[in-house]
Amino acid sequence: MRRVRKIRIPVHRLEVGTVIPFTLLDERDQVLLFRGQTVTKAFLERLRRRAMTTVVAEVVEEVREEAAKEDVSLEVKMKTLSCLEDTMHGLAQGRHVSLEPLEEQVGAILEEVRAHEELVIPIVQLKRHDDFTFTHSLNVAIIALFIGKFLGLGREDLAQLGLGALFHDLGKLKIPPEILRKPSALSDDEWRIIREHPLVAKNLLDNQRALEDLVKFVPLEHHERLDGSGYPLRLGAEAIHLFSRIVAVADVYEALTSQRPYRKPMPVAEAVEYLMGNAGYRLDERVVRVFVAHLSPYQVGDVVRLSDGREAVVSRLNPVLPFRPCVAVRVPDGRGGYITEEIDLARSLTLTIVEELSMKSRVLLPS
Ligand SMILES: [Fe+2]
Repeated sequence: MRRVRKIRIPVHRLEVGTVIPFTLLDERDQVLLFRGQTVTKAFLERLRRRAMTTVVAEVVEEVREEAAKEDVSLEVKMKTLSCLEDTMHGLAQGRHVSLEPLEEQVGAILEEVRAHEELVIPIVQLKRHDDFTFTHSLNVAIIALFIGKFLGLGREDLAQLGLGALFHDLGKLKIPPEILRKPSALSDDEWRIIREHPLVAKNLLDNQRALEDLVKFVPLEHHERLDGSGYPLRLGAEAIHLFSRIVAVADVYEALTSQRPYRKPMPVAEAVEYLMGNAGYRLDERVVRVFVAHLSPYQVGDVVRLSDGREAVVSRLNPVLPFRPCVAVRVPDGRGGYITEEIDLARSLTLTIVEELSMKSRVLLPS
């Protein structure tokens, strides 16, 4: 199956003399450079004059049908995101809001999470610079549902976990954006305001009579830590609900590995180290273990550099050896064109991935 994928590439990655393996486009889909053409000084100068910081690569991939699976489809994510924005704004304004549309979306996510057969949690793809509270909430909910599924939770529990995870940062809607997005250190007063968001969320949700208590625990407890060092109630291990422990792990992981206005995403391996370092001490050990055991450092569609210098596209994940997925490379067909060949890195021991050129998880989707 041929699939066209668009990936943003920072202009500073383009080097003079490089033969481009993909057609490069601008934001309006106008071709800047055709596949096979060479990057010249004049070309880079032209981009600089247009003040362009990124270009769009049109990647044509030959992928197996079953390899094209996403964690949760983009359609469901986008629909959930708009539903979540409406519901959360309504709740934050103290209005009585019907939760049914959002519950339906949790059901749709759940269907996809449950149907996912591979024992991997693909890194969640949906990232936008704006409104990161909403995309963060959605990503955390998807990760939490995968963890819940691998912990063996039943459908009803998963539905409540999903809704609780979507609402975990509801209280942040009441925090002034200048504090939330402040790039420099926060003052004591600003920290105090931030640390109130779990209680704010609980109060807002208490007005919704139809809501199960279990759903409310998650926003209230997701910053509590097993050793009592969390906030706002400094609960100890025995008082923190399993759903809140799951969301705590998903929340920390998502926050560390995603782009923020004031910092770069942390590499997956480092974030895993951080989680493991806190397991059994601040974070629930079983939850961390289940998460890490199913985490995939790559996702189908990621563009990587191999140790022999070639660029490749991750075509299939390997649940047993997650750092050795199958990759697709382009090789000359002897007639002036190219064919795509798949290499199983678990079998090809001399080849490794040495660089991540474009992680799908880090690609910003147009908002
Ligand atoms: Fe939070």
